[in-house]
Amino acid sequence: MKNVKDIGSAELIIDDKVFNFSLIEGSMGEKAVDLSTLRRETGLVTYDVGLVNSGIAASDITFVDGEKGILLYRGYKVEDLALNCMFLEVAYLLIFKKLPTVDERKYFSKLMNLNSMIHEDIKNFFSTYPEHAHPMAILSAMVVSLSSFYPEISDDTHKEPFLHTVTMLLSKMRTIAAFSYKKSIGQPFVYPSYKYRYCENFLNMMFASPVDDYQIDPVLERALNTFLILHADHEQNCSTTVVRTVGSSGANLYASVSAGICALWGPLHGGANQAVIEMLEEIYKGGMKPQEAIELAKRKNSKMRLMGFGHRIYKTYDPRAKIAKSTCETLLKHLKKNNDPLLDIAMELEERALRDPYFQDRNLYPNVDFFTGVAYRAMGIPTNMFTVIFAIGRLPGWIAHWLEMKTDPDQKLMRPRQIYAGEPLRDFVPVEKR
Ligand code: SDX
Repeated sequence: MKNVKDIGSAELIIDDKVFNFSLIEGSMGEKAVDLSTLRRETGLVTYDVGLVNSGIAASDITFVDGEKGILLYRGYKVEDLALNCMFLEVAYLLIFKKLPTVDERKYFSKLMNLNSMIHEDIKNFFSTYPEHAHPMAILSAMVVSLSSFYPEISDDTHKEPFLHTVTMLLSKMRTIAAFSYKKSIGQPFVYPSYKYRYCENFLNMMFASPVDDYQIDPVLERALNTFLILHADHEQNCSTTVVRTVGSSGANLYASVSAGICALWGPLHGGANQAVIEMLEEIYKGGMKPQEAIELAKRKNSKMRLMGFGHRIYKTYDPRAKIAKSTCETLLKHLKKNNDPLLDIAMELEERALRDPYFQDRNLYPNVDFFTGVAYRAMGIPTNMFTVIFAIGRLPGWIAHWLEMKTDPDQKLMRPRQIYAGEPLRDFVPVEKR
């Protein structure tokens, strides 16, 4: 395994028999027991619901330290990248392992433009969806269909052909997302333009119309770049594990990403940013006090959770949430919307929850989704598009993990085991005797 060293062994004693398994350590000091031969040596499997304690790969893409609140993309701090890069540079870094040179960045942007249109026949798909169709459903269906419209898409992972496959997906998914929004509001599609950068193009396709020459606000473009960078990767999260799992069967990149979009849609994962706004609106419209909402979220039998709070890995403040919060505050001030009641509620919920023993005892802090929804809403992005923005941000991470899995000699078809807890062997009973 790459960059992973053997640091000793762990003993497992089963029925007085001693088994030894390697202790391994990653490049940032994470340690693990290598149980790859467990079943062959002991006949047993591990039992680890949700894979909470299981590493499914040795990956050199992203490092997360949940206790210290550290997030590195290919070794760079997410704070440094969010401050100094455009989203496309971070996409290039995640996929091709290095920040692009000036020429590489120019060529990458050129390919983005060349691949920004979608086949005119794909536009007909949109007319078959009802207006209320969720854009995540459209996005997933359209992405998997791209491989039918563009048979030249190859699984060749060598740099040049893969650059085309990747830029087609990164650019066309953004176009499909904007078109799905226009469809939902009954407006004509606005085509991408070579004169705009990646995020400018998205904003223009979302908000321009035949009767209004949309002026791109550089503060909104900068904020969108930052939010997309914050979402670009997060090691083996639910949707990325789905992309790796589907890709491990030999499915192509577009089919794997389409499955990842569906996994991201869930409110416990990427759908949380939409759920945060719905929760804030419910509190506001219901005239609930933030403290009442917190008490509800703490109650075991209540369906309510403090959406945007808590994380499987971060047991301290999510470093992305800090950047999202300051970007959100800057944006709302610039848009003169800093008197948004939902922002006030979000700030008060955060302040109260961070002081509350229930949240402190469980290490529940704001995650990346807590503030992004308030910012997207202020930008004029509708709630049902929030998770689509998350998907556009996460796409480079999904691509990087799919490529890593495909080119890793240790990787194999993902097929976990289980413990059977059903009926023991029983004889068949014909229907007349049941
Ligand atoms: C993302 O994995 C990733 O990296 C994901 C992500 C990425 O970039 O890909 O970071 C993006 O998905 C962020 C998370 C977005 N989801 C939400 O904001 C939804 C609200 N959060 C929770 O549902 C929850 O915190 C999870 C699902 C995120 C994590 O839950 P875990 O790790 O499975 O923990 P758990 O459900 O076992 O909770 C532990 C305790 C429980 O209480 P007790 O049984 O110990 O009494 O904490 C409580 C939970 O009830 N709890 C919450 C809570 N989150 C956990 N209580 C109230 N509100 C919450 N939000």
